[in-house]
Amino acid sequence: MRAEGLKVTAKAHPNLALVKYWGKVDEELNIPASSSISVNLSGAATTTTVVFVPGAEADSVTIDGQAAPSKAYLRVVKHLDRVRQLAGITTRAKVESWNDFPASAGIASSASAFAALSLAASRAAGLSLTERELSILARKGSGSACRSIPDGFVEFVAGSTDETAYARQLFPPEHWDLRIITVILEGGPKEVPSSEGHRAAQTSPFYAAWLAALPPTLETVRRALAERDLGTLGMAVERQAMAMHAVAMTSSPAGREWLSGIYYWAPGTVALIRAVQDWRRQGLRVYLTIDAGANVHLLCEAPDQGELEGELGRLLPALGGRYLVSRPAVGARIIGEE
Ligand code: DP6
Repeated sequence: MRAEGLKVTAKAHPNLALVKYWGKVDEELNIPASSSISVNLSGAATTTTVVFVPGAEADSVTIDGQAAPSKAYLRVVKHLDRVRQLAGITTRAKVESWNDFPASAGIASSASAFAALSLAASRAAGLSLTERELSILARKGSGSACRSIPDGFVEFVAGSTDETAYARQLFPPEHWDLRIITVILEGGPKEVPSSEGHRAAQTSPFYAAWLAALPPTLETVRRALAERDLGTLGMAVERQAMAMHAVAMTSSPAGREWLSGIYYWAPGTVALIRAVQDWRRQGLRVYLTIDAGANVHLLCEAPDQGELEGELGRLLPALGGRYLVSRPAVGARIIGEE
C-alpha cells in the first residue's frame, strides 16, 4: 500500500492509574520500574488526524487549532520519527489534534494524545501494528499512553526490554460499571512535570519501600477488579496513591534546589481527602486517587453516583472546583480514513 496521502483519524481516551507508574528503569524508552493498572476514562478524549505529505519540508502540528508550542512540537516530531523508521519512509506529516476537554482542565492529555497519535500515524504510514506493538510505540511517547491503547481495564506490564514493556487488557469496559468523578481543582500545567517526578523518585528514602509494596498491591487490585470488590479495590488504590505522593514529597528533583520535595496537592485536595473519609464513615462507598497534580479522582459504583454528586455539589462551591463524570471506556480507535 502507498503510505503517503492516506489521511487517518484516531480517537483515544485518557486513563486513570489505579496502581501508579512512578519511576523508570529506562528514561529514553519509558520502561517503568514496576507494572501499573488503569482504566480508560469516557469523559474526555483526544482526536488526531495524520497525513504524510509528499514533498513537505517539515512536519506541521496543531493542537486545538493552534500551532503546537515548541516543546510539544519536538515531542510529536520525535514520535513521528519512530513511526517513519518503522515504516521505512522519510515523508513529513501534517498532524491535527483536538482535545474535547479544555487544556486548562488540568487533565493530563499526554496519554490520550500519544495513543491517538500512535494509531493515526502508524496507519497513515501504511503500517498495521498489533495492539501490543501499538502500545509499545505509544509508550515511547509517554509511558502512561500505552495504557490508552487497549479497551477498558488495562495493565502496563513492566518488562525489562523494549519488547516486553507493553499494555494488555485485564477486563473489557463493560466488566464493571464503575463511575469515576474527576474533581478539577487546578487547571494549567503542573510546576514539576511527571517526567521529572519519575527521575526524582529514586532520591526518596521511601523508594525501596514503594517498590517492595507493589507486587502485593498489583495482586490485590487485579483480584478486586476480577471480583468487582469496590471496598478492597478502593482502599488499595487510595493507599497506593498516598504512597506515590509520599515518595514525591520526599524526593529531590534535580535543578530545583529550593524544593524540599514535590508537593502536587492544593488546599482543595486535602479538603477532599478529608471529605471522602468522612463520607465513608457515614456509609457512602467512595474512594479516591490522585495523579501527579492537585485534582482528585473519586471512584464509586453506579447506584451511589447520585448521592456522591449531591455531596460534591454542597462542597465544591467553597473549594472553587468542578467535575467530570466518566465510565470505563474503550481504547484507541480509528474513526476516519480517506
Ligand atoms: C502520576 O506517563 O506522564 O500519572 O512516561 O514521562 O510521559 P512519562 O510519564 P507519565 O507518568 C504518569 C504518572 C502518573 C501515574 C500513572 O499514570 O501511572
